[in-house]
Amino acid sequence: MCGIVGYLGRQDAAPLVLEGLARLEHRGYDSAGVAVLGRTGLKLAKQSGRVRDLADSLPKRFAGTVGIGHTRWATHGPATDANAHPHVDEAGKVAVVHNGILDNSAALRAALTDAGVTLSSDTDTEVLAHLVARSASDTLEGKVRDALAAVVGTYGLAVVHADFPDRIVVARNGSPLIIGVGDKEMFVASDLAAIVRHTTTVAMLDDGELATVTAGGFTTMRHSDLSATGKSASEVDVDASAYDAGDHESFMHKEMLEQPVTARAALRGRLDERFGTAHLGGLDMDARDLRAVRRVKILGCGSAYYVGQMGAALIEELARIPADAEAASEFRYRDPVIEPDTLYVAVSQSGETIDTLLAVQEVRRKGGRCVGLVNVVGSAIARECDGGIYLHAGPEVAVASTKALTNMFLGFALLALQLGRVRDLSIADGKRLIAGLERLPEQIAEVLAGESDLVEVAQTLAGAESLFFIGRVRGYPVAREGAQKFKEISYRHAEAYQTSELKHGPLALISPDVPTVALVPADELAERNVAALHEISARSGPLVVVTHEGVDLGEVDARRIVVPRNEPELDPILLTIPLQLLAYHAAQHLGLDIDKPRNLAKSVTVE
Ligand code: F6R
Repeated sequence: MCGIVGYLGRQDAAPLVLEGLARLEHRGYDSAGVAVLGRTGLKLAKQSGRVRDLADSLPKRFAGTVGIGHTRWATHGPATDANAHPHVDEAGKVAVVHNGILDNSAALRAALTDAGVTLSSDTDTEVLAHLVARSASDTLEGKVRDALAAVVGTYGLAVVHADFPDRIVVARNGSPLIIGVGDKEMFVASDLAAIVRHTTTVAMLDDGELATVTAGGFTTMRHSDLSATGKSASEVDVDASAYDAGDHESFMHKEMLEQPVTARAALRGRLDERFGTAHLGGLDMDARDLRAVRRVKILGCGSAYYVGQMGAALIEELARIPADAEAASEFRYRDPVIEPDTLYVAVSQSGETIDTLLAVQEVRRKGGRCVGLVNVVGSAIARECDGGIYLHAGPEVAVASTKALTNMFLGFALLALQLGRVRDLSIADGKRLIAGLERLPEQIAEVLAGESDLVEVAQTLAGAESLFFIGRVRGYPVAREGAQKFKEISYRHAEAYQTSELKHGPLALISPDVPTVALVPADELAERNVAALHEISARSGPLVVVTHEGVDLGEVDARRIVVPRNEPELDPILLTIPLQLLAYHAAQHLGLDIDKPRNLAKSVTVE
């Protein structure tokens, strides 16, 4: 969602801030703005629309070596020029950019209005600019401290003030804020992607921290009392090219094709062939802890929820522990009973999804143990959990999750293996699964190599206004994920159903205009699945069947997509890969912006 970038140094700040903002576009936004401090004080430019529109319309005189910028995803008030950040005080001296939500902004706006302040936007953030301006403190840090003492909510923020032109003050509570150290220049950002081309020496603020950033360095302190926290910067191990689409026409395409490599990274060092088990040190659970687990509850949103369902099936099959997945966005609202012998697993690519984070907090508040399956190291969910498994997928830029999702599945497979091997899973079965996991990256590559064969079928599917994705048991979450990918990037109505439920309702919709993508692996349900295909075919419903070699579809008229077989428990991920390709090529055929689908954001940091 929203993004923050700031710069101080010898160079002109605006172009660097705008470049950083452009690098955050994938997070989703609807307006952008930048403020710089120059010789003549604070200058501001902001508008709804794209970063490049803002760059094109920047006033001629916009020089300054200190600057902050923002991409906004509308929450409080529509995406208008006035609501875009930075927000300024009445005198035009203070500028603030903010990610997060201030819960008491309505009361603060009313109090400011009563005090005679004229507010010029509908946003919660604007109150911060006025509060900073009205503080009696004689330092910028003190003014920001006073403002933050009045607000309740979440924030990552950056503040500049014309009376303190040598600094940016930043603060964090629940929304990431990174400080980047360059050569006599400094950066601030909400996401490493914005600054990684300039520096990989960074410090990440913790919740409750504030920092003063000048061209020469930075100092961190608690924002409650400005006492020093003494944080220093360190080198992060990140490849800047991971944030570049390279020769690919989109990040999604690049990230799909990276899956064989990233899948290997998820497994590296974690498979114990001798004992047929997995090693997951980050879980921080010994054999006794693992044996004490009586139930597993997986919490995630969107695709992370669907892969959580795949994970629950794996855990139940391999470890024979009851397991299920639930949408994290609903979890806390039903006042869940938290059981001490249940292992809660939060799954998230970004590690920032607010619904998942709040679900973790609900579990922990009630005394439950929650571990994380998270891609972004050091992210809010990773920190909030009792332990976890990092996914090692590398940065995922496209909104539609592909390589991270695959690694989530692998993370669940490793967890299931470990839980199984301290129970009844035999060493032979453990070794069988390890061999299967080791084969997977090659098999994923094999499916991806068939990409060109899928283009035409994807184009045909793109012509339908509405389509079904169906599967059973292991195949059902795959169908849900396939429908999700398809709808989010092609904007076609795609609905997932259990194949067995078809004739209890949706069959009424089957017609020559409504295609069905069916998952028919070579498992014990294959015959039942094929019977359902006949029912669809008899009603002239076009069919695309993702299946294995040797599955007999009989007389059914269908376009077959054959994927390699692995161990049956691991098949779901191989069935998922062609569905990514179908969604991708359908969206491409429709000429859509694949990496930035309308209305969606990469990290959903607001409720
Ligand atoms: C789908 C997609 C979303 C995310 C969901 C959770 O392709 O990307 O449905 O899976 O918003 O995001 P994370 O995994 O960051 O918690």
